[in-house]
Amino acid sequence: MTRRPTAILISGRGSNMAALLAAARDPSYPARIVLVLSNRPDAAGLERARQAGVPIAVVDHRAFRGDRAAFEAAVDAELAAAGAEIVALAGFLRVLTEGFVARWQDRLVNIHPSLLPAFKGLDTHARALAAGVKIHGCTVHLVRAGVDEGPILAQAAVPVLPDDTEATLAARVLEQEHRIYPPALAALAAGRVRVEGGRAVILGARAPGAALANPLPGFAAPPTPPPG
Ligand code: GAR
Repeated sequence: MTRRPTAILISGRGSNMAALLAAARDPSYPARIVLVLSNRPDAAGLERARQAGVPIAVVDHRAFRGDRAAFEAAVDAELAAAGAEIVALAGFLRVLTEGFVARWQDRLVNIHPSLLPAFKGLDTHARALAAGVKIHGCTVHLVRAGVDEGPILAQAAVPVLPDDTEATLAARVLEQEHRIYPPALAALAAGRVRVEGGRAVILGARAPGAALANPLPGFAAPPTPPPG
């Protein structure tokens, strides 16, 4: 089996990157991580990648003074030098131009902390709380030119609890991000993703047998009186 050379792009903490690195330690994982690149020199994830023995690179967007094409040309040069064939965005907080997205069409994957197409953009957990949704989650998708748009590969849903804060909800979602990103990237690297009419299908993937409802059905029943 040839393992597809894959680069991970980060801007910060890098916990999703760490989940991908951990999965890729298995020699049977279909992606091999050849580079971790950050647009921020102070991204904590860089140190984690270095400790894991993965090559790292920094392309500081501030050096390009708003010239996105020049910034992306520098990113592309690093990706080419590393031999990357797939790019996984993991908390990479720069919007990519149409040109970059087109060059990496169907080889560029992202994780977003909401059940897309709901809550595109930033502050997804605060906006989910404000909207009062009862189920929230995360999405792995192929990247298209529109922000947080593109064929969906995998999603995970979590309940929103009445006493949730942004932090507790974010932590519950993040746990699921780490769960769904490695297999979604594996499916892409293994050539098991077919894109048909803007939708993605993963060949051989199984769906869960159960639905998630929140609150649990039966919530209209009066509470059981205390014994005695
Ligand atoms: C993750 O929650 C990821 O889904 C989100 O940033 C966080 C990065 O955390 N990405 C976006 O909001 C992209 N629009 P991490 O650095 O620990 O993986």
